[in-house]
Amino acid sequence: MKNIFDTHAHYDDERFRDDLEETLTAVHQSGVSLIINCGCDISSCKSTLELCDKFSFVYGAVGIHPHEAEDAPENAIELIRELAKHKKAVAIGEIGLDYHYDFSPREIQKDIFEKQLILANELDLPVIVHDRESHQDTLDLLTKYRPKGVVHCFSGSAQMAQEIVKLGMYIGLGGAVTFKNARKPLEVAQSIPLDRLLLETDAPYMSPVPFRGKRNDSSLIPYTAEKIAEVRGESAQFIIDTATENGKRLFGI
Ligand code: NI
Repeated sequence: MKNIFDTHAHYDDERFRDDLEETLTAVHQSGVSLIINCGCDISSCKSTLELCDKFSFVYGAVGIHPHEAEDAPENAIELIRELAKHKKAVAIGEIGLDYHYDFSPREIQKDIFEKQLILANELDLPVIVHDRESHQDTLDLLTKYRPKGVVHCFSGSAQMAQEIVKLGMYIGLGGAVTFKNARKPLEVAQSIPLDRLLLETDAPYMSPVPFRGKRNDSSLIPYTAEKIAEVRGESAQFIIDTATENGKRLFGI
């Protein structure tokens, strides 16, 4: 398969440290034409922009992940605003809420998420949103600020997906649709309008079956696309082509 756009990856992760160059080259040759690397704290945002400078097919998102909210510097928003000036910074992300791990106190998570939603609107950039077991608060804040963007690795119900779509946002789906217990993600994959679907890996995490538990990379997206194609009665290449067009439209690439 070709023309694949991985809208969410973390190639600055230490699990790629020893073979990053070979991996990205192989991924590109396998049919992946675009990747967005997502920063999670100031240092990984800087690494993300270095990847953008080095690889023509890599674009970047800059933001503070909810896990890192508590440790973010006081001037984090100012720093993100500066980093977002890079010509290949196409989104504010990865931002959001995570009530599963609760690595940062919820009030601090909400505060920095809200500030970054405001920043994204001010810069007219889309957001890449992480929502884990925080559906209602996420939906409330997205409804309040109405940013452009995507809820990545979407784990809500089909009904919530419709709410997100109504806000004008996109739904990111990855390896989770191939998991054995994937009832909810598959209902989402089947029911959302196809012009709101984005494909993603969250590499190195969330490898699709049959690679579950192993290191993920963008070349495995066809397994995710196949599963979505199956429940929608389309070809996997059609799903990939449509999702790539959607991603280019959203991120202005
Ligand atoms: Ni991520």
